[in-house]
Amino acid sequence: MEKIVILTGAGISAESGLGTFRDAGGLWAQHRIEDVATPEGFARDPALVQAFYNARRAKAATARPNAAHEALARLQAAWPGEVVIVTQNVDELHEKGGAQGVLHMHGILSGALCATCGHRWPAPAEMAAGEPCPACHAPTARPDIVWFGEMPYDMDEIFEHLVNADLFAAIGTSGQVYPAAGFVQEATAAGSRTVELNLEPSATVSQFDETRFGPATQTVPEWVAELLAG
Ligand code: OAD
Repeated sequence: MEKIVILTGAGISAESGLGTFRDAGGLWAQHRIEDVATPEGFARDPALVQAFYNARRAKAATARPNAAHEALARLQAAWPGEVVIVTQNVDELHEKGGAQGVLHMHGILSGALCATCGHRWPAPAEMAAGEPCPACHAPTARPDIVWFGEMPYDMDEIFEHLVNADLFAAIGTSGQVYPAAGFVQEATAAGSRTVELNLEPSATVSQFDETRFGPATQTVPEWVAELLAG
């Protein structure tokens, strides 16, 4: 049975009303990565970083999955082989859309992490600077988000899936952030077919066997319907 590995990025959640990072007016046009998405930024100004993620957590909490998230969940349920979803997104809309076993390589907004002892727990709606860890009581609670300079989660498991993939798809990601941007090469080296579904060509578009451009709510349900029709 064919194994499908799918990587998703901010573009799949754009039509759910969540902003992407690098499109015009995206999050990185409004905030400096160094300030809100690095351990150094958090050490410098934890209140600013907590406020940034509090706002994103509130937005994600009310966002609804769209037709693309739902199509991937349908594919997972109906495909005779395995369908693994790896996401760079921290919004959990895949799960809200019915997907299972999603690998969150960049963490989740609903999680809290102690920067001192590594304890993890469900994040409150609002986190403050100096928020105490419930395990070690150090005032170092932070969002459980992987920042620049930190190691993404589940990498061993993800590479294991990639080397066994028959089909690799990247959906709604700009191909600018590694290691995720390197997955297409890993999959290709392992003999997998590869397809990019994106609004416009990504930085790694030339590495894909097939490309489909358009909004995810159109391209993803179409692609899933074709796969399931055989
Ligand atoms: P980007 O903002 O870099 O890229 C979003 C991609 O989605 C672009 O290629 C857009 O063309 C595409 N896109 C936009 N709207 C779309 C739509 N309606 N349908 C389909 N595609 C659409 O986001 P990511 O690639 O996810 O990391 O960014 C990767 C990482 O960089 C993020 O996980 C985040 C960020 O810094 C951390 O914060 C650690």
